[in-house]
Amino acid sequence: MRFRTTCVVGVQWGDEGKGKIVDLLSREADVVVRFQGGGNAGHTVVRDGEKFVLHLIPSGVLHRGTTCVIGNGVVIDLVQLLEEIRDLGRRGIRVGSRNLLVSERAHVVMPYHKQLDALSEKAAASKIGTTQRGIGPCYADKAARKGIRVADLYNPTFFKNRLGALVEEKNKVLGALYGAPGLDADSIWMEYRRYAEQIESLVADTTCYVNEAIDGGKRVLFEGAQGSLLDIDFGTYPYVTSSNSDACGISAGAGVPPKKVGRIVGVAKAYCTRVGEGPFPTELNDELGKRIREIGHEYGATTGRPRRCGWFDLVASRHAVMINGIDELAITKLDVLDQLDEIKIGVAYELDGRRIDRIPVDVDALARCRPVYETFPGWKKDTSKARRFDALPKAAQRYLRAIEGALGVRVAMVSVGTDRMKTILRRTRIARIAAD
Ligand code: GDP
Ligand code: IMO
Ligand code: MG
Repeated sequence: MRFRTTCVVGVQWGDEGKGKIVDLLSREADVVVRFQGGGNAGHTVVRDGEKFVLHLIPSGVLHRGTTCVIGNGVVIDLVQLLEEIRDLGRRGIRVGSRNLLVSERAHVVMPYHKQLDALSEKAAASKIGTTQRGIGPCYADKAARKGIRVADLYNPTFFKNRLGALVEEKNKVLGALYGAPGLDADSIWMEYRRYAEQIESLVADTTCYVNEAIDGGKRVLFEGAQGSLLDIDFGTYPYVTSSNSDACGISAGAGVPPKKVGRIVGVAKAYCTRVGEGPFPTELNDELGKRIREIGHEYGATTGRPRRCGWFDLVASRHAVMINGIDELAITKLDVLDQLDEIKIGVAYELDGRRIDRIPVDVDALARCRPVYETFPGWKKDTSKARRFDALPKAAQRYLRAIEGALGVRVAMVSVGTDRMKTILRRTRIARIAAD
């Protein structure tokens, strides 16, 4: 039996434009599920010129009739979630139990997680450049069995005792390692009991909900956050996030068996960006890199940090195609390259005088990799009005065909602007969630 599920994942280091693609595909989805990450994500959706940046709530929320689910694999900052709900409300999008469910098994980002994230980044000799949203410390506590889950908030005595013990331990760490003042467990307990009341109507057994939705023939869309190269297992460790930010994360992060995960759509920019530290072989540390940043408005949707820009990297993308089993590609921000004289693709790396076509596991080796480029002529024409693949300049078509040829994956969607409408759907069923 084929299941009517689709998954959208980032092929690069995040910010590929997943929000836009998820919003577009949500037209046909009954349920949209986030399965990992947390408030580190910043997914932009532009609707009729109005910009929304979503951090914890799935990008399907702008569609009436779509149920959004924050799955068990997500780490939830309740302060941020409540603020996001309020912000959407102020802008005419009502979020409530009708359109948002929160997993009772999801872990909660506590104040000490955010504090430890910030302090550890400040103190570290080699920084990761995290978003300081408490993601790493919260996932670390989850794995160490020192986490607090959403369900735990509704067992006041258990929550109080557990929090008391955890805060006592965290205060020792805060004092000893960072000379920081301790936190008061009782006031955190009261504050989080209040938040728990405010989200109570949203809390659900989302594992059952999503499985029953799939089994009942509903169209379910999984929304990945971050990107494949930030994946804790398969990314450029240690310069990664703390979750499985590729399709491998769906089963554990939503409670959906692998056999129910259908089509995988990989989203990649027509070039490449990275925010935070870590090796980036095709990075452009020059005027051209700055120019791409300005044309593409490459500043973080969550932190506002300038994103590092570079050329499309086939070595890294091939790795992402393999680990995700990508069926179709959505290439975004093609329009950003419109005015360039020539465009390059990194087709291989040169490492210590040897040509390689796989991404090295050793982070120092990756930092030593020099890209081998193939150069393409620019098209020097506006692509933002194209709505069909064959309406694109021939040179742009050649560029996209080179990517799909090298990766062996069809480019099913091309995005040429921020708005929903500025998208080319090729002859494909990608715009339909239902798998055939
Ligand atoms: P996400 O994290 O993968 O959802 O991506 P972000 O929202 O962090 O960053 C993508 C940025 O590119 C956002 O500002 C989008 O509005 C913008 N964007 C998406 N697709 C296109 C496109 O085709 N062209 C242009 N110019 N901008 C785009
Ligand atoms: P979306 O979903 C781009 C990066 C951070 C840092 C590393 C670890 O919008 O694509 P973390 O706070 O997760 O511990 O930071 O991961 N990072 C992202 N980069 N897009 C994101 O999300 C990111 N989420 C985390 O910059 O390098
Ligand atoms: Mg983003």
